[in-house]
Amino acid sequence: MKHIDLNITIGFCQPQELSEEDQALLRAAQSATLNSYSPYSHFAVGAALRLADGTVITGANQENAAFPSGLCAERTAIFAAQAQHPDQPIDTLAIAARNSHGPTREPIVPCGSCRQVMTEIEDRYHRPIRILLYGTSGVYVVSSVKDILPLSFIGESMK
Ligand code: THU
Repeated sequence: MKHIDLNITIGFCQPQELSEEDQALLRAAQSATLNSYSPYSHFAVGAALRLADGTVITGANQENAAFPSGLCAERTAIFAAQAQHPDQPIDTLAIAARNSHGPTREPIVPCGSCRQVMTEIEDRYHRPIRILLYGTSGVYVVSSVKDILPLSFIGESMK
């Protein structure tokens, strides 16, 4: 059997090492956690994305008594952006989260379903999405969704 190596490099830094606009996006994601409706998990997630034209859209997780009817913060932001600005690719997406003790120490990472949705957007616009994952210990900087969802399933996969 042959082996295929998949090499992924992710950055880790402090917010102040990032550009002003990235720092502003991280702050927007942190503020967006305040718009979370999470009475079941008590885990508040905020997302803020910057479109290619500079527009910033935020989202927050919205839970429901019928658990599967809720939606993650990332997808509320991505779908709002797609619905309002369908001609604009997403340049950068920042995510932050708080549990009942406060902001998470470890950078928050998106769930598999959100990664799948992000992959569709990269494929749709033929452009990588940068992802900033915030924790009080630091920020993971991901250059493309492909790095966190290798071997991804896209429309092309059905041909
Ligand atoms: N959640 C998000 O909003 N984004 C993530 O990346 C991980 C999980 C939400 C879903 C649910 O409301 C709560 O966090 C607990 O899973």
